[in-house]
Amino acid sequence: VSLKPFNTFGVEANAKYFALANNEEELLAVLNQYKNLHRENPQKLPLLFLGGGSNILLTKDFDGLVIKLNLKGISEEMMSEDEVLVTAKAGENWHRFVLYCLDKNYGGLENLSLIPGNVGTSPMQNIGAYGTEIKDTFVGCKVLDLESLEIENFDKEQCRFGYRDSIFKQEGKGKYVILEVTFALTTKKHKIKTDYGAIKDELEKMDIQNPTIKDVSNAVIAIRQSKLPDPKVTGNAGSFFKNPTIPKSHFDKLQQKFPDIHFYPTGEMVKVPAGWLIEQCGWKGRQIGNVASHKLQSLVIINATGNASGKEIFDFSTEIINSVKEKFGIELEREVNII
Ligand code: EPU
Repeated sequence: VSLKPFNTFGVEANAKYFALANNEEELLAVLNQYKNLHRENPQKLPLLFLGGGSNILLTKDFDGLVIKLNLKGISEEMMSEDEVLVTAKAGENWHRFVLYCLDKNYGGLENLSLIPGNVGTSPMQNIGAYGTEIKDTFVGCKVLDLESLEIENFDKEQCRFGYRDSIFKQEGKGKYVILEVTFALTTKKHKIKTDYGAIKDELEKMDIQNPTIKDVSNAVIAIRQSKLPDPKVTGNAGSFFKNPTIPKSHFDKLQQKFPDIHFYPTGEMVKVPAGWLIEQCGWKGRQIGNVASHKLQSLVIINATGNASGKEIFDFSTEIINSVKEKFGIELEREVNII
């Protein structure tokens, strides 16, 4: 089965086996079958779960079973005058879910508008943008333990969220499938977050002084559309690398040499935008073969011709890592999952 329609990079890769799970019963049925298959064939068959396919790079054919999670449904429970718990199944598209909440005037997710991918993968990397991360509204998630095939509930603390990080990328990697996620949202006193410079500028441009959550969402959508490529048009997986955090001593030396270096102080460490580092190395907009660094945001690697292979994209990212390492002594870490 071709996985091209199921990854936003739009690269070609085949799966040996493929299953679509439309609900929990179907998911359990296919996993039980998979376990039986194992007994007959002790050679472990690799397993890969696909959500929206917006944060993976397939570098070769997948010689195992791919399960596409397509669980749907949204439910809600009023907790108080000003708080509602909203639960969405893993296969709900993230942005459609954000719009659903905005339609009901539920606040908290507006800064996360237009992020590609599905609800079920949002906790894995604690998706974040424009001053908000999902951990700010996350309450808990229901997961399936792949060993026991039992359902468990994880609260916020158990998820151990960090910058683009959670237990699902660390000890829990490959052990659980997220089935649904619950958020606590405001219904009246919304906490409007416009500290991120770009949002302030955009709202000013829109001539809005007292923004509603819908205004903030519209501003975020406008910013994203103005500089991030639409995966439906140009294959990509958003930021390809994490923004690196370096010790202050290293940063001070860099600042002497590169006085206009961009940065965000974070305690003892300093976070440097990877996009700036990559641009300084001359990669912004540069194309090699079918792959390029996006001309408006160099942190995003694109399938420029639509014909790139996963291997080509991976090799391109390695070249970027090497040149940033050489010029700044910083080792960029890939944010996208490499399969
Ligand atoms: N910059 C450059 N050149 C570039 C790109 C960026 O100099 O080509 C500089 C900008 O001038 C700015 C700084 O880098 O000073 C930050 O740029 P931007 O506001 O675009 O944000 P980012 O740090 O590059 C992060 C997230 C994005 C998220 C934005 C907005 C990561 C890895 N990326 O990017 O997330 O949308 O902030 O909050 O943290 C994603 O994860 O897929 C993603 C798009």
